[in-house]
Amino acid sequence: MHAITDRQSLISALDCRERQFTEELIAEGGRIKRENVGTKTYLRGLIEISNKCRKDCLYCGIRCSNVQVERYEMSEEEIISCALKAMALNYGSICIQSGERCDKAFTDRISSVIRKIKALTDGRTGITLSLGEQSRETLMEWFEAGAHRYLLRIEASNPMLYRRLHPENSLHSYDTRLKTLYDLKEIGYQVGSGVMIGLPYQTPADLADDLLFLKNFDIDMVGMGPYIPHPQTPLAALQYPADGRRLELSLKMVALLRMLMPKINIAATTALEVLDKKGREKALAAGANIVMPNISPASSKSRYSLYDKKTSLSEDINLEDAEIGFGEWGDSLHFLAKRADIE
Ligand code: 5AD
Repeated sequence: MHAITDRQSLISALDCRERQFTEELIAEGGRIKRENVGTKTYLRGLIEISNKCRKDCLYCGIRCSNVQVERYEMSEEEIISCALKAMALNYGSICIQSGERCDKAFTDRISSVIRKIKALTDGRTGITLSLGEQSRETLMEWFEAGAHRYLLRIEASNPMLYRRLHPENSLHSYDTRLKTLYDLKEIGYQVGSGVMIGLPYQTPADLADDLLFLKNFDIDMVGMGPYIPHPQTPLAALQYPADGRRLELSLKMVALLRMLMPKINIAATTALEVLDKKGREKALAAGANIVMPNISPASSKSRYSLYDKKTSLSEDINLEDAEIGFGEWGDSLHFLAKRADIE
């Protein structure tokens, strides 16, 4: 299959409904992955430390207006014990995720937790953060404490679409989100971003532009998965593509991104599993090389409900057939190559 890289070909590929084409595209994504980043799958133990959130994103189950959510916050000790569990399982890396909070008590606690985890594991734990938009100072503080990767999805790279998915106020600004991504890059983090796939209002051209956005930003890592409506959110009332179509689009997005950016890290996201029990395995076959098993305690898991059915997912993905990079950080080769160029 020839490489699909220009906007029009990306749109056609996403639009195409032929089964054979989709299968070939997915196989090609897998082949390009193996050739460029190898056959190993790397793990990040996901710790969902709090569902308190100051944002009100129209698609997200833990948006601040959802009063039906029972809010929780893990203590420093609980977070550290999860991190040690990940290390005992030989995962190599953890990812600390939370609803967005910027109060000083929270940002200080994160710095302290990062330092303690690093100290307790002789610096061996790779630490990824997924804590939303933060000031440049806070992001620098966490980087200096020892975090080295950060995930912040752009959600939808088209500013018009972004505006339809978020309330119209200064807390939900596309420009701030973009600026934060640039701050992360300048500070020296490996930067991850991504989008939701199959959103209301979203067109194949939007998705093609999402891929080109990630390429132009020169992103190091990507997590993108299907939109899964959450009944307690305003967006759930709107039309979106059927389950099968969202799954197919998500797998195609992974394969096309792997063609565009052969050496980045791409996650097989949990949301895929809502649409198909084998969703994450299928994403690995299409070009993904990262899995984030949820290692949060059951009480947190049940309350960290970003989308419908998330809490009832089995946390275990069948990785028997996969070759796992146990004990390795599995850093983005794309990022490491850039750094080697500079030095
Ligand atoms: N469906 C799919 N993904 C969602 N997220 C939030 N709500 C939903 C939803 N309803 C994703 C966002 C966010 C990530 C942590 O979870 O992309 O960045």
